[in-house]
Amino acid sequence: MRVLSSIVASQLDTHGRYGGVVPELASREHLRAIVPVVRLALEEAGTGFDDLAAVAVTAGPGLVGSLLVGMTYAKALCFARRLPLIGVNHIEGHIHAVIAEAAREGRAIEFPALALVVSGGHTHLFEVSAGFAYRLLGKTRDDAAGEAFDKVAKLLGFSYPGGPVIDRLAPHGDPEAVRFTLARMKGNPLDFSFSGLKTAVLRWSERHDLAAEIARRRALLREQPRPSLEQWLAVTPQRTLDLLASFQHTVIEELLRRAAASAEEIAARSAIFSGGVASNAGLRKAASEASLPCPVFFPSPALATDNAAMIAAAAFPKLERGELADLALAAQANLTLA
Ligand code: KG4
Ligand code: ZN
Repeated sequence: MRVLSSIVASQLDTHGRYGGVVPELASREHLRAIVPVVRLALEEAGTGFDDLAAVAVTAGPGLVGSLLVGMTYAKALCFARRLPLIGVNHIEGHIHAVIAEAAREGRAIEFPALALVVSGGHTHLFEVSAGFAYRLLGKTRDDAAGEAFDKVAKLLGFSYPGGPVIDRLAPHGDPEAVRFTLARMKGNPLDFSFSGLKTAVLRWSERHDLAAEIARRRALLREQPRPSLEQWLAVTPQRTLDLLASFQHTVIEELLRRAAASAEEIAARSAIFSGGVASNAGLRKAASEASLPCPVFFPSPALATDNAAMIAAAAFPKLERGELADLALAAQANLTLA
């Protein structure tokens, strides 16, 4: 697969000031963006509607208002141009971003593969077999890993999304400074839980009376919606840098412990890490050094966070297999992959 263009319309400026995604604003922004984004994508690719072989669309999971905008547009386009429609699961898109990229670089992913999908909405472990069949091995019982990054950043007065800012600040702190207990899962040991860790960070910040520095960071954010690393460092004392480093270290340990255990269990021949959190530098470094029993594949930064190329990548094998949808395809907020 070759990517001819991949246009991402970021809504960070819209949601950033609220410290999270506001569903009503998200669907309105989707509606505003969809026509110009498609036009720009075709323009950059040097193609037109006449060159298209099929249209792929995200069927879920996600915010239903946003999904419906894409779904309605895709159906209208397919109807008007008599094009085949392909419905794609968002999570499968994250997995295929990595598979397509590896193939392009001539590094084939071998099956069975373990897939760890870590984003703002998901923390899931799947077994992926040849032919792209999926089996769920474990998932979060409460917050997703990305959500934990976002919530911790918000409660400490940092910007949204929290992952990238914590990622940049963590190397300035000591990851061993604060010892958080790892989650112990009753039932399925491959499930995750991050809400306890988030609460532990909150309790630590209350015990150490961070109110004044949090107020300083919030003031900075009001003046400057996207502070530089130096600006953040100027309003973040060492103890808080240590806290951030320790928090990130704990999340990485939770992810890698279960990824390693899953890979063992299914005798994985490769591991695919994907989703927004897979762009975390600490995770990438730890995964390359960690004791995973197989090679680990990461997406390039552009394909790690949500994008259209990953949906096309997941759709391509479906098109080849003739797995087409019809105009009754539904947008499903809670669509599952397995
Ligand atoms: O996959 P994605 O773009 O959207 C969802 O499907 O959720 O992931 C966004 C999530 C956010 O929670 C964000 O904080 C997190 O991924 N994220 C990161 C990093 N970059 C994005 N988390 C940790 N480190 C990063 N560098
Ligand atoms: Zn995503």
